[in-house]
Amino acid sequence: MSNSDVIAAPAEDKNIPQHVAIIMDGNGRWAQLKGKGRVAGHKAGVDSVRAVVASARKSNIKALTLFAFSSENWKRPEQEVSVLMDLFMFVLTKEVKRLHKHNIRFQVIGDLSRFSEKLQKNIVKSEQLTAGNTGLFLSVAANYGGRWDIVNAAKNLVKGVSQGIMSIEDITEESLNQETCLAELPALDLLIRTGGDCRISNFLLWQAAYAELYFTDTLWPDFNEEQFTKAIDCFDQRERRFGKTGEQARNETT
Ligand code: IPE
Ligand code: IPE
Ligand code: MG
Repeated sequence: MSNSDVIAAPAEDKNIPQHVAIIMDGNGRWAQLKGKGRVAGHKAGVDSVRAVVASARKSNIKALTLFAFSSENWKRPEQEVSVLMDLFMFVLTKEVKRLHKHNIRFQVIGDLSRFSEKLQKNIVKSEQLTAGNTGLFLSVAANYGGRWDIVNAAKNLVKGVSQGIMSIEDITEESLNQETCLAELPALDLLIRTGGDCRISNFLLWQAAYAELYFTDTLWPDFNEEQFTKAIDCFDQRERRFGKTGEQARNETT
């Protein structure tokens, strides 16, 4: 079924994803279409983040994971990277209090060691402030790469083996999963990418093994509550079989 064939089910019957991740792409093209510099697109994209967080809360989604900066994005012009870092710092300082007020738990995933000390401190402070919250679990992926995540998990397991805490036989899908980012969250159900490209760009490679994928041409700054609801409605129409036959899968859900 294509994204456009969706017929929304009544709210009470809807199959809501517990964990949604978004590759927020298309900021630069959005700005260029408006005759502005790429940075204007990144700034406008912050409003879409606010809209999607509000919409996820309303839909009772448990976890939302947003791709803000990939481990490959350092290859961009220095000036663009520097603006993105400033924007990240600004959003952390300004928005985290609001997240806390709404009982949202916040964390940043990725290799944080490459960020400035000031930014790292701000991240830790924001995570500590919201650590006890029980509402939406919001994760922002920054200097994150799916391959890095898997390599990091493998390193942790090897450490366990070399210290004699575990044996090679203890290395299983479950134990490796435990060492990856987001292991404490429900499995990823829905992965959305805006901006028209149909690729994962090294996002949640391990976690997306059985996620439903949703691609839209909408550029990130144009993505809003209505667009998000459309993606959730599309998820509701998907039949998730996890390797079984359609008949088996349908019998399990009825
Ligand atoms: C996504 O938008 C934001 C980041 C990668 C930081 P882009 O900046 O990639 O926008 P396009 O894809 O060039 O339009
Ligand atoms: C993916 O977008 C990363 C983020 C949205 C943060 P990119 O714009 O970096 O992806 P590619 O380079 O087109 O694959
Ligand atoms: Mg892009």
